[in-house]
Amino acid sequence: MNLKLTHPTAFVPTMGALHAGHESLIKIAKELANEVVVSIYVNPLQFENPNDFSSYPKTLESDTKLAEASGATLVWAPTFEEIYPSDPELISAGEIGNLFEGVHRFGHFDGVLTVVKRLFDLVQPKYAVFGEKDFQQLFLINQMVNQMQLPVKIIAAPTIREANGVAMSSRNSRLSVSEQGQATGIYLALKTAAAANDLERARHLLNKEITSIPGFLLDYAEIIDENTFEVATEITAKSRAIVAGWINGVRLLDNMAMPKLEVPE
Ligand code: PAF
Repeated sequence: MNLKLTHPTAFVPTMGALHAGHESLIKIAKELANEVVVSIYVNPLQFENPNDFSSYPKTLESDTKLAEASGATLVWAPTFEEIYPSDPELISAGEIGNLFEGVHRFGHFDGVLTVVKRLFDLVQPKYAVFGEKDFQQLFLINQMVNQMQLPVKIIAAPTIREANGVAMSSRNSRLSVSEQGQATGIYLALKTAAAANDLERARHLLNKEITSIPGFLLDYAEIIDENTFEVATEITAKSRAIVAGWINGVRLLDNMAMPKLEVPE
């Protein structure tokens, strides 16, 4: 397959159902290169639940409009056969792929890395832009690029939030107005933790606030070391709080840097 691109190319891989968060990724890509490819591909390998995969929203027409209006020069919606012409060999996300999100979505990150590597092979971008909202995904993609020495520069884009602070996600549309109000609690808990000056207090506040959000079924809330994705300790140079859970069957994840806990490297 030949995508007939002019190089250098900036790439924004997506699964569609684009929103303002994706728009910001595409705009960042446009600042990096004239040729901006947005892929729209719902990757079956990263869904542990077949119902989740089959019910994933498909909105190609509006996605194409949004992507083009944001600066995409090619909106590419490949078929399964284009991505996986033969049985794909899974790329392992290793130990970190089994932590946090990986505990709750077994094999998910192996599927993500496998498709991202395949997309990189096909697009051959100079830059690829990923949102910080999926922080563990971003970490693992960076790790894969470093380990395999892939010739692509990964650009991390800040999380875009709704006016009430909720991190933008295609899943937010499944929340009622009152559930959106509950989801704000996640943002507020992260902000409260980020205001603490020491790790123990930040952890305490995060747990206290997050467990008091009505209707929020917590999967995990932790402060991790951004450089290793291990649980942060007093000597961690760069910490970040990560949270995931459910409101009425809708999975929500968020994270926030904890700059006040920074220890000089
Ligand atoms: O973040 C996503 O939308 C997906 O995990 C990605 C990176 C497009 C791979 O399918």
